[in-house]
Amino acid sequence: MSFQNVTVAIAKGRILEGAKTLWQQSGLLWPVDEDSRQLWFAPSPERPGMLIARARDIPTLVGMGIADLGIVGLDVLEEYPNNHVLQVADLKFAQCRVVLAGQKNQWPEGPTRIATKYQRIAQTYFTIHRHPVEMVSLSGSLELAPVIGLAPYIVDIVDTGNTLRQHQLTEIATILESSARLIANASHWRTKPELEHVRHLLQHEE
Ligand code: ATP
Ligand code: PRP
Ligand code: MG
Repeated sequence: MSFQNVTVAIAKGRILEGAKTLWQQSGLLWPVDEDSRQLWFAPSPERPGMLIARARDIPTLVGMGIADLGIVGLDVLEEYPNNHVLQVADLKFAQCRVVLAGQKNQWPEGPTRIATKYQRIAQTYFTIHRHPVEMVSLSGSLELAPVIGLAPYIVDIVDTGNTLRQHQLTEIATILESSARLIANASHWRTKPELEHVRHLLQHEE
């Protein structure tokens, strides 16, 4: 079995950390040197090729077939869906929740403003609840929004709840339970012989 013709796209940050553990547990050589800025590692017979990218770009890279496989959070997959991508396994790390949070444990009364980096997930949620909202798109430090008066509510990631507590915020509702997912380019997954080994490994995991 050879990985010579397989490439995996992995999101920077927590996902990369979790992927490292996974690779090492599977007996694969981890090519990333902590101090290096290298984002591309060519495949070798011992391990797949690897590219390291921003989380939101992973569905695009896999959907276009630039990478055969990808590792990314379910939150990102829901926010940036791609028709050419299949979810093939729940890798169980990077577990967190996308939640609605605010200064009181109280559902918003009437139209309100929501700060989030998950506009699609948040908009779908409020549409289902038939609740009018105005979205403010931020790319991080969401917990600031209620403190500085930008928006009374946020839709953001929670794990331990420490960041919310430090900003006197409380969880109102869970919108999505997330964890790292292994994704695949749909047509490569069906047709590429080199991925047979991965399909096999996953069947044994079940
Ligand atoms: P970027 O800087 O590109 O916006 P990011 O903030 O999404 O990246 P990370 O914080 O490493 O990058 O998060 C990567 C993934 O890990 C998220 O998409 C989510 O699935 C999960 N995650 C985010 N925050 C936490 C957390 N506090 N605890 C556990 N998992 C988390
Ligand atoms: C993430 C997320 C929350 C925090 C939640 O931030 O955006 O702010 O973790 O985790 P907790 O419930 O355990 O406190 P991160 O550390 O990734 O910083 P970021 O804003 O740079 O993404
Ligand atoms: Mg983060």
